[in-house]
Amino acid sequence: MKQAKNIYLVGLMGAGKTTIGRQLAKALGLHFYDSDKAIEDSTGVNIPTIFEYEGEEGFRLREMAVIEQLTRLEGIVLATGGGAIIREQNRIALQQYGFVVYLQCSVDKILHRTRRDNQRPLLNTDNPRARLETLYAEREPLYLSCADYKIDTGIMPSKLVVKNILKEF
Ligand code: S3P
Repeated sequence: MKQAKNIYLVGLMGAGKTTIGRQLAKALGLHFYDSDKAIEDSTGVNIPTIFEYEGEEGFRLREMAVIEQLTRLEGIVLATGGGAIIREQNRIALQQYGFVVYLQCSVDKILHRTRRDNQRPLLNTDNPRARLETLYAEREPLYLSCADYKIDTGIMPSKLVVKNILKEF
């Protein structure tokens, strides 16, 4: 295990990054950050609005800038947006400065958890299941390529997920 002072959470939307991240930060006495929230705070608008006006590409540029800033901080737990790992630069920064945990979760669970959600533009489609299956297939190798540890969040309560991560950190 590497000597990291930060924990970075990666995984698809709905995998539990924010919930687990908050609990981890509390348990370790670290600060919790969320890259989406940082983007919203810096722009003053929500994620769907950024997608609407700047497209996914514009959002990804903002995400990269925020991750570059947040990975300069020490002693934090960071929940990254589900697509942050698409960019190699982000994967390298996460790998370099923290203990990267991949929160794995099945498409079925994610669909259930996000069923009433309108804050995730990528799921704003007639067939969210097909979209999620594609994202899962495209991204799983990328999550795995930068993760120091992976854990399935769909099969156990968040407290147990946190306990397991703490054992590895
Ligand atoms: C995205 C996931 C979202 C948010 C944006 C794009 C993605 O974050 O960054 O809607 O590409 O998977 P969460 O994973 O926190 O939902």
